[in-house]
Amino acid sequence: MTAMPDAPSAHDILKLNDLGGYTVPTRGLYPFQWNWDAAITALGWMAAGDEARAWREVERLLEGQWDNGMVPHIIFHGDAETYFPGPEVWGVQRSPSTSAISQPPVLASVMKILFEEGHDRALASEKLAATLPAVINYHLWFYRERDPENTGRVCSYHPWESGMDNSPQWDGPLAGVPPVDAEYVRRDTGLVDPSERPHKYEYDRYIYLVQFFQQNDHDGEVLYRDCPYRVEDISLISILHRGTRDLVALCEADAAGLGLASTHGEALYSLKQSQALTEQGIQALWSEELGCFLSHDARADVLLEHVTTAGMLPLFAGLPNAIQAERMGTLVADWLAEAPYGLASTHPQSTRFEPKRYWRGPSWLHINWMLAIGFEDHGLIQEAAQIKQASKDCIAVAGYYEYFNSVTGEGCGGRDFSWTAAMDLYWLNPLESFTASKAPQSEVETS
Ligand code: GLC
Repeated sequence: MTAMPDAPSAHDILKLNDLGGYTVPTRGLYPFQWNWDAAITALGWMAAGDEARAWREVERLLEGQWDNGMVPHIIFHGDAETYFPGPEVWGVQRSPSTSAISQPPVLASVMKILFEEGHDRALASEKLAATLPAVINYHLWFYRERDPENTGRVCSYHPWESGMDNSPQWDGPLAGVPPVDAEYVRRDTGLVDPSERPHKYEYDRYIYLVQFFQQNDHDGEVLYRDCPYRVEDISLISILHRGTRDLVALCEADAAGLGLASTHGEALYSLKQSQALTEQGIQALWSEELGCFLSHDARADVLLEHVTTAGMLPLFAGLPNAIQAERMGTLVADWLAEAPYGLASTHPQSTRFEPKRYWRGPSWLHINWMLAIGFEDHGLIQEAAQIKQASKDCIAVAGYYEYFNSVTGEGCGGRDFSWTAAMDLYWLNPLESFTASKAPQSEVETS
């Protein structure tokens, strides 16, 4: 709920950012459809009472799916001059044009929620049946292309693929990437305060990687072998794992009576094998010393020792054992004591903590939502409640910003932001009309 009486409501923001079946994260700064933004935003549309629009968001995202199954991180549905790097820089020849990397696939988990909590049962069944096969292919792509050696730990080829662009986790691996050898003009720093955005040093390497993908014709085998940035990314691994669990549950429970388990039998078998691999492989990323999980630079074979919210996302996937979950629970109080408008994306005691620079310290509400679910799933109810309260406090201070200064609550980045509005509608302050008439939970179990 926004503190500013004249400010647009969360639902108004979704409508303002609706460009016809897809919702831009915010106008100007991000003028296209982004992968995990779209998924989170679909929850907002549902909570605002527009279930058809929620499913439409999913369908429009899937319009960008590549033949090999990848769902890209940006779908360039239209033209826009306010964004760099746009379609011409990515150089992907398809319609609609897209970027050439993906993003954390929270989509499957969102679809399970849309299906289970939707009031219009006929619509939910029809849309699930129409979209689920594409999302199964998406998950198969991740395991096949990004974990060809079956470690149980998929990797990313770009910091943007983690969705956490300039997290301190990527400082080490990014140092192994050369800077781009060409002039370019950034658009982001003309639209928001540069002190809230990544530095030129990082951008030069981001753009190098984009060119590298293009020069290698986006060939999966070549990229796995030669990409100078290859990171087993703890947020990607965790969100993918939770999504796979949700996909398998949707098919097996078959609450919609669609016979999904038999039509997708082979795919389900493969997904379950990948699940088992991750359940084992994740333990290599646990740090007994820091008390959380870490990403791993697969090229340099180095664990990336930074305490970040990403490192607690295995909770969302049910991956930690009880002792590990407790350890992560003990971090939360300290984390919030120093940065109360939490949960700061990087632990405030880290030397790399910067409370308002993008992924180096601000709080992001969709991450908080996943963490709160994770803590709750592990019986850590108080930690979940603290994270939820801190999220409400951010909105109360600043309204619907992209992210929040975790020390002061000040809104940062883009304003009138879709995923923040959606998290308010769905999670933090749902309308009574949504909660009161919530459809009875279906029998679908997630475990
Ligand atoms: C930034 C964020 C990314 C998000 C995108 C659109 O690049 O780091 O996570 O998806 O903006 O909001």
